[in-house]
Amino acid sequence: MSDTVTIYEVGPRDGLQNEAQNIATDIKLSLIARLKLSGLKHIEATSFVSPKWVPQMADHNEIMEALAGDVDIAYPALVPNVKGMEAALSHDVKTVAIFTAASESFTQKNINCSIDESVERFAAIAEMAQTQNVKMRGYVSCVAGCPYEGEVSVDKVVEVSKALYDMGCYEISLGDTIGVGTPNQVKDIINALKTAVPIEHIALHCHDTYGQALANIYAGLDAGVRVIDSAIAGLGGCPYAKGASGNVATEDVAYMLRGLGMDTGVDLERLIETAWFISDALGRKPIGHVANALQPEYKTKET
Ligand code: HMG
Ligand code: MG
Repeated sequence: MSDTVTIYEVGPRDGLQNEAQNIATDIKLSLIARLKLSGLKHIEATSFVSPKWVPQMADHNEIMEALAGDVDIAYPALVPNVKGMEAALSHDVKTVAIFTAASESFTQKNINCSIDESVERFAAIAEMAQTQNVKMRGYVSCVAGCPYEGEVSVDKVVEVSKALYDMGCYEISLGDTIGVGTPNQVKDIINALKTAVPIEHIALHCHDTYGQALANIYAGLDAGVRVIDSAIAGLGGCPYAKGASGNVATEDVAYMLRGLGMDTGVDLERLIETAWFISDALGRKPIGHVANALQPEYKTKET
């Protein structure tokens, strides 16, 4: 098993989508530029969803227009349907992420359709992606529990993940959307999924609502996962999952991986500065731990 881990940054999308306050497009672009300078190679930049549903992502056109010329790294964008895919393609987006869940109720609340309907919608997106040579990532939310239904079966996680994988997703990201999972549960899910989706195509997306994210990621690494989603400063949450607080903080993940001797190619100090940049812009401290423990020098002088 390789000791190289890919950190897939979701801060500009998952991190900011739930913020009530207006965040200027320039701040988002500056955040993305700093994340890139920190060495991240996958930065989920925005989502082409309805601005009525998620107002914070309404500047998706401006964001993707600004990033269009930058082919050094991947800037995936979320797309829920053909309309979103068409908008993404108009900006020459190279990677899109489709998203559904292992829970019926969450899927209804989040994207206003059933799981089966979402998979049907994605088939059309997959066809467009293939024709246009666009990579497609797939999210399966609520793998460890649902805010509306409670327990979610591992079989359903495997079934939905396999459907997305068979459709052409290069990677399936398992979302513990409300952060209720615990390490053995995460291991069980991954070990079950490994039989249907090769381990190198499985990613883990942990929210830290119950403080379990790093422990769950450690369990995921132990089960062979080598792609970890995280959000700078521990930002994040899904507007359609009550209780879905921040994603695990990128700098906390990077710190743990460094301690484990795993290579991520990211610069921890730059990540910490970036965590403070966006937290200052939002008028609060970073939610994660490491950015508070290892404050940049200019911050310690302020206090
Ligand atoms: P709907 O109302 O069923 O859509 O919403 P519709 O097709 O009936 O269209 C209704 C209106 O929306 C129309 O406009 C459409 O043009 C417009 P109107 O005629 O009323 O003016 N519309 C769109 N506008 C812009 N972009 C589009 C689009 N599609 C339709 N793509 C829809 C269905 C999927 C659009 C809606 O439910 C939606 O936008 N949901 C977004 C939910 C979302 O973004 N959630 C957060 C991301 S998921 C997440 O955070 C979890 C994750 O992090 C993993 C984890 O943590 O587990 C990924
Ligand atoms: Mg999420």
